[in-house]
Amino acid sequence: MRALASAPAKTILFGEHSVVYDEPAIAGAVNKRAYVEITESKTDKSILKSHDLNFEAELDTKHKKYNLKRGKPGIIRYILEALNKVHDHSPIVMKLSSNIPIGSGLGSSAAVTVATLAALYRFHNIRFNKKSLAHDAHMVEQAVQGIASPLDTLVSTYGGLVYLSRNKKVEHFKVNFNAPFVVGYTNKHGNTGKMVKDVRLLKNRNPKIINPVISAMGQLTNYAKQAILKRDFNKIGELMNINHGFLDVLGVNTMELSRMVYTAREYGAIGSKITGAGGGGSIIALCPNRVDEVARGIAAEDNVLKIRFTRKGVSSRV
Ligand code: MEV
Repeated sequence: MRALASAPAKTILFGEHSVVYDEPAIAGAVNKRAYVEITESKTDKSILKSHDLNFEAELDTKHKKYNLKRGKPGIIRYILEALNKVHDHSPIVMKLSSNIPIGSGLGSSAAVTVATLAALYRFHNIRFNKKSLAHDAHMVEQAVQGIASPLDTLVSTYGGLVYLSRNKKVEHFKVNFNAPFVVGYTNKHGNTGKMVKDVRLLKNRNPKIINPVISAMGQLTNYAKQAILKRDFNKIGELMNINHGFLDVLGVNTMELSRMVYTAREYGAIGSKITGAGGGGSIIALCPNRVDEVARGIAAEDNVLKIRFTRKGVSSRV
């Protein structure tokens, strides 16, 4: 038996962090993916290996432990949690490949989690649908991170550009939103769990200041929804810039992210902001007619990706 699955990376356009407090958010699946293949092992050991991510480990799926043979697997805890949830602990070989930069704020952990669960369901012939898969993947993220909104795993499962409402209803934008975006990322990885906890502590220490900021981020996301429906790029850019300021207030900005955000604007982006948890990771810049200039500007000091939104969510087969 050989089961295969893949799931896309995501980028958050509006509402990271405030979504944890049930404010709305807008995020889209992008054309970078994580791929998982599961086969039976020929030995009595379970092995996880990734050529792209340059690691290999022996897994103890029952006790969520691993013995590293090579490399440094940043996302292994998500895989072990998913295996522990679904797998019967028989020896398997799991191969992971991915062209999503790990820890870059593009939802590599969600994509790996969704693809791992989908491959496991196929491998064990367990019936599932996107709703149950997104739910289970969210449970895995929550178990690993402590606090997590369902946003990343939803987008990785369903694909497309998604508006997640206050009451967790998922709406897919029907507009053809082929806006040109550039993502810049540093080599410094963000730690989503830590960033979410730090925001919570800041909020607990300063509720009268931070609570209104979080609700303003929700309001901003609703304005952004209207701007996207009208394809009003100038308004979207303006709201991205405001959103970046709010994220700075929440303490998730860094010198490197700031540098990329302002470099992007200097080279012609009409909006730029942190995307994802911050503290490292990525920024996203909206730059109609200026993609190459902005990409070149960021690439002088950091890593850059030109991304497209994709409608394709999780896919799996045996
Ligand atoms: C991380 O990609 C997005 C955060 O809002 C955390 C979450 O939604 O779980 C920072």
